[in-house]
Parts: sequence; C-alpha cells; structure tokens
Amino acid sequence: MGAPANRLRIRAALLLTLAAPLLATAGPIVDVIPLPARIQPGVGAFAMSAATPLSASPDPDASRIANYFSALLLKTRGLSLHSTRTGSAAEPRGAVLFSIDPHRLSADPESYSLDISPDRIVLSAAGSRGLLYAAVTLWQLCTASAERSDPIELPALRIEDRPRFRWRGLMLDSARHFQSPGFILQLIDWMALHKLNVLQWHLTDDQGWRLQIRRYPRLTSVGAWRVPAGAGPAADIDPATGRPRLYGGFYTQESVRQIVAHAAQRNIAVVPEIDMPGHATAAIVAYPALGSTAAPPRSVPSDWGIYPNVLNVDEGTFGFVENVLSEVLELFPGEYVDVGGDEAVKDQWHSSPRIQARMRELGVADERGLQSYFMRRIEKFLHERGRRLVGWDEILEGGLPPRATVMSWRGIDGGVAAARLGHDAVMSPSPTLYLDFRQGRGAREPPGRGQPVTLEDLYRFNPLPAALRPDEAAHIIGLQANLWTEHVRTQERAQYMTFPRAAALAELGWSRGQDLDWPGFVARLPAQLRRYEALGIHASEDAFAVSIQTRLEPGRERVALQLANQARVGEIHYRLDGRNPTAADPVYHGPTTVPVGGELRAAAFEGSDRLALMTSRSLDPASLARRSSQELTTCSNKLVLNLEDDAPVHGPRAVFLVDILNPCWIYPSADLSHARALSVAVGQVPFNFQIGADRNAIRLDTPQSASGELEVRIDGCDGERIAVMPLAPAASSAAVSQLPAVPIAPRPGAHDLCFRFAQRGLDPLWVLDWVQPVG
Ligand code: ACM
Repeated sequence: MGAPANRLRIRAALLLTLAAPLLATAGPIVDVIPLPARIQPGVGAFAMSAATPLSASPDPDASRIANYFSALLLKTRGLSLHSTRTGSAAEPRGAVLFSIDPHRLSADPESYSLDISPDRIVLSAAGSRGLLYAAVTLWQLCTASAERSDPIELPALRIEDRPRFRWRGLMLDSARHFQSPGFILQLIDWMALHKLNVLQWHLTDDQGWRLQIRRYPRLTSVGAWRVPAGAGPAADIDPATGRPRLYGGFYTQESVRQIVAHAAQRNIAVVPEIDMPGHATAAIVAYPALGSTAAPPRSVPSDWGIYPNVLNVDEGTFGFVENVLSEVLELFPGEYVDVGGDEAVKDQWHSSPRIQARMRELGVADERGLQSYFMRRIEKFLHERGRRLVGWDEILEGGLPPRATVMSWRGIDGGVAAARLGHDAVMSPSPTLYLDFRQGRGAREPPGRGQPVTLEDLYRFNPLPAALRPDEAAHIIGLQANLWTEHVRTQERAQYMTFPRAAALAELGWSRGQDLDWPGFVARLPAQLRRYEALGIHASEDAFAVSIQTRLEPGRERVALQLANQARVGEIHYRLDGRNPTAADPVYHGPTTVPVGGELRAAAFEGSDRLALMTSRSLDPASLARRSSQELTTCSNKLVLNLEDDAPVHGPRAVFLVDILNPCWIYPSADLSHARALSVAVGQVPFNFQIGADRNAIRLDTPQSASGELEVRIDGCDGERIAVMPLAPAASSAAVSQLPAVPIAPRPGAHDLCFRFAQRGLDPLWVLDWVQPVG
C-alpha cells in the first residue's frame, strides 16, 4: 500500500463514489475506534520520535501502562521510545506523561483525558483502567497513517472520554472447539485495544469440558475429549491407542490463573461460563451419576445442536455443582459467574419418576419451575460468596432468581423483560451479535451460519429499545457479541469471524448513541484494518471486498458486469487481463458491459491505498455459467449453514452452503440457450446435528439405486425432471467429486433449475459444490 499521507489521519472524510452519498459531513476525522465522547481540536502538532521521552506519575500502574504503550508502538510502528521514568505534570518539553491522579474528579473509573499540544502529551485518569484506555487512544492516533515508516505527527487536540456502557463483552466458545491458552491471551490483548472489558468464557458444553477441576479429574480426563464427526477420524488412527485420534484439550488451573491475571492488567473481567443444567453432556459422560436417565451417554458427543441430556436435581448433584463452582470462584475473582441456563430440554426431567417425585417434594409445579429452583439455589450459593449470577435469558422461565443478570440472546425481549423486573441485562441477540454467522456471501467466507450478518448489520444494532423508561433502560448495562465455535474450527477463523465486527461492537458499547454514525465508522475503518495487519490479526475484509456479478449478454460476446462492496466506500478499480489493478486503472462507475474472455480483477481503493484483497473472476463463457453453492439460492431458509467437509483430516477442506433442514438448491435464471449438458460437483458432509423432531421433517426423495442420485428439475422444484445424475461415481470419495456430465436439451430463455438429492439416509448428507450448464 502506498501512502502519500505522512501525518496523523485527521483528514477529510472519504469521498464516496458509489451508490448514494452516505457521508453528510466532511469534517475532520479522528481515526479512533471507538469514537471518543469529546474531541476538541487544538493548534499545532506534536512530533513523536525515538527521542521522545515517556514519563509516568509515581503510581506503579502508570509506568506499567507507559511501558505497555511503548511496547505496542514498537511492535506496530517499529518506533522505540525512551524508557520510562517517574515524572510529574511539570515535565520538560517534548515528553509524553502518563498520569494517574486519584483526585481527578470522575464518576467513571474507565474515563480519561488525553491532551496533545505541540510541546507535550498528557494522558490522565483517576486509575489504571482509564489510563490504559488513554494509552490505547494515543496508540491508535500513532498508528492511523498508512505507512509504518511515516513520522508520527500528532495534531494538537484534547480528548475527554468515557464509556456509554459498563459491560462491553465478547463471548468465546472454547468448548466446541478448543483454542490454545496463548490464543486467549492474544484475544485479551486485542479486546483491550477495542476498549472491550468483559470476556465471557464458555468453558463447558455437551461436546467438551475445558476447565481443570481438581476435585473431579474425570471432567477433563474424559470430558475434554471426543471423536470428531464423520468419516475423517477413521483415517486418523492414533498409534498409541489404535483408535481414532481424539479431539480436545483443556485449560489447567495454572493457565487459567495466568489468563485471568493478564486480563486484569488489560481491564478485562473474565466471566467463566459453566453451563447447566443443559449443555452438560460432557460432564454427565465423565460422572454418569449427574444424569437424569437410567442410561446416560457413554462418550463425549460430536453432534452440534441441542442434546436432551440435563443434570438431575439430586442433592449429590448440587454438591457437585457447588464444589465445581468453589474452584471456579478461586480461579475467577470477578463479580460475575455465568451458569448458562440455556436450552435445557425438559423431557428427561419429565419422564424420570425420581425427578418427578423430587418435584412433588419441593412443591414445584412443572419442569420450568424446577429449572427456576435449580437456578435459585445456585444464585444463593454465589450470592453468599459475594458473587453475581448471570445466565442466558431462559433463566427468566419459571421465575428469575433474585439479583440475577440476564444475557438476552433470543432477541432483546429477555433483556427488556429483565429490565422491567428491575434486573440488570446485557443485550447479545442472535443473529445480529452472533459472530458465528457469515459476514458476507463471498466465496472466501469460512464455515459458519449461513445468513450474513454484515459489519453494518452489527453496527446498526440498537441496544437500548425506545420502549424502556429511563429507570428501566438504566438496567441495560451493556452488550456482548458471542463467538460460538461449532463451525469455527481454527484460531485463524476465530479471528476472521471476530474482527472487524468487534470494532463495531466496541463503538456501540463505548460511544454515545448520538455519535453512532455508520459512514463515520467506515471512514475510520481502513486505519483499523491496517492496525489489524500490524498486530497480525487475521481479520475479515468483507466490508471493502468487491463483489462481482456477471451475466452473459444475449449475443454471447459481452458480459454485463456489476461491482460493489458492502460498505459502499472507496473507488473500485479493475482490469480485464488477469493482472492486479492499481489506482491508475479504470474506475468502475456503475453497471457496464465488457468483452467475453480474460480475467476480471477488482479492488476498492481509497486514494492509492487498496482497502481489501483483490477479487477475481474468469470471463470465459464456461466460468460465467458456473455457480458455487454459495452463489446458488437455497430453496428455503430454515437452517442454512456454510458447512465444512470432514476430509481430509489435515489440509484444506471444501465448504458448502446448505439448508440442512431442506437440502435443495436453485440456480436462478440459468441461461440454457446453448446448453448441451449439465456438469456438477458434489461432496458429502456428516449430518451431525441434534435437531430433535425437525429431523423427521426433512424431505429426502427415494433413490433408484443404492448410492442415490441428484435430480434436476426445471422451472422450479415441481417442474419437469431434466436430469438424474447417479451418485455412485462419487460415493467412495470423502472429498469433492465431479459427476459425469449428463446431456440436456438447449432451451431459449432463462430457467430456474432446482437440485435435490435422492438418498436413503441423512448421514452423510450429499451437498452441491458447484453447478455448470455446458455448451
Ligand atoms: C445460546 O445461543 N444457546 C445462548
């Protein structure tokens, strides 16, 4: 990326060249995310160089934070500043002073001020929390320009800042897929750079128990390990056991202590989540006496979805839970402990005579009441130890435990109901704040839930519903985005799903409601993406990546082209010769046509800076006719997933977009005027979903042969069947297979093609990879 700018990015707003004019104001932009509460421009600028001394007030936290700032600057700008010394407000000219002043008048311990004048910089706060954020803001100002080698020249200004909400959270699911302790430490660092302050750590679930508990070693020796789903594990035999290699891992108490201590230095409270009474299969496998049936599960499962297994309500089980929580309280000193409470299926309680008898003894009317009894007991236990219970919004069912905080995930209604009852609530509704949803429809998108939740969708979320009275709204203490990891297998993908949506979350959580402004946020995003690059964060570029729509014109000599990017920002430059465009190449001004042949490459630019990776598309007729599963339409939107193959065990795997409750795809408006055959590639994925009775409602056509067929119909799914493609040639392959092409008759006009598999069972599930009418 080239960069003419050699000074801080207080700069004119981006000129929008696409679609509607989105930026109403073209004032100066301070490249800080989240946007500070108050910015006053000054006169002149401060030049930072290797000669700039850093000094700190006597409080040891002040020098710790000065050192933190200097390490960050070294890592991301290559600038090594003079070492810290203890100083005072009367520092010599040219210094950067980190000052903790307990007498500073401020109601909010996270507030701070940052004063940049031509002859010095003063960061000031009443304590370490605010000072840390002052340092983060200064670091952002120092890393706003495009080039690492640019001198740092900071225009004079004064920032007075404080957060809108006190809970600015991110949830990480370490149960479905395990991340290393090193990754958690890194994530904490990255969160702090967004002024996020709560890490809810989802440590237990059906598919894994990840926290060492000394009193119950089987929780991790047994509960932390599973055989992955599908055919892959059969090809991955562990020589030590002669059996499929197990997937898993857990956090030792020592590593947890290190993580919690590190988080405290970054102003992040780690809220452990020990999910109960549902999502507890791994614990029940480890200690079957905890289960509610006579035949508890015997191995840690690898299906996603909702298992029927729930903890029972024996006194012994409460003893177990309390013993576990006692160790949890030792490890996590923060105020809040999350006990889940979500998706506890009550069938096992309903059909257990022992549990029904216990309910009668307790005078509990129904199973919802029993869940409420369960949660109340745990709340009392935590309250007596000075802690606060937080749980998913199901804890409202059957009566909220006293003092409980509600995490509203099934929309915002749970949060509203809790606030109206005088309870605190955190807004984290699915899908808008669920980071396992795809961010766009691009071919590079990794596995996840199918419905796109774009950066803009997240940014436009309103955590404070207008219907709440001010006293009720005061109970909405913040918001949280949740990264569930069923489909997020690697740490690299965890980063991709989280960033930059975490930046939008950060702004919603920190900046004042009236300052939230999508075009303004987008204008500050390029600098944020460059910071991610400098930090080594593998972030999504979906907001700026160019999407390409093509259609062959009737004469088959030209291609109609539409280019866009999600953020509708920057200028799109493109080339047709397969070479990467620069800002000197033609600008896309709107729908156009180009000659058939060659390879289109396009990217969005801000001035000479490329905003995102290149997107490319071959413009030969065969490639133009091909559609990947992500470019097809699913016949319904019941439960659309971008799903990964389970083979090979190592190396890249194919990803397919499929509605698992209705595996059926449409190629809309296919041009069959010159088609003589149909070519497709198919794959198989494990059907590892606990979806209860929904499974019985999945329509599978009856196959004519043992391996089944792919059936193709024209003009909709009830139209004429124009092709039946036997799956036998692909049946033995665990990876993607291209089926032999089948002849079809050419027809004029555009036709919707419908694809369904006829197969005997659901597992493995046949899926489309791509489809192509062949001329
Ligand atoms: C949840 O998504 N089950 C809280």
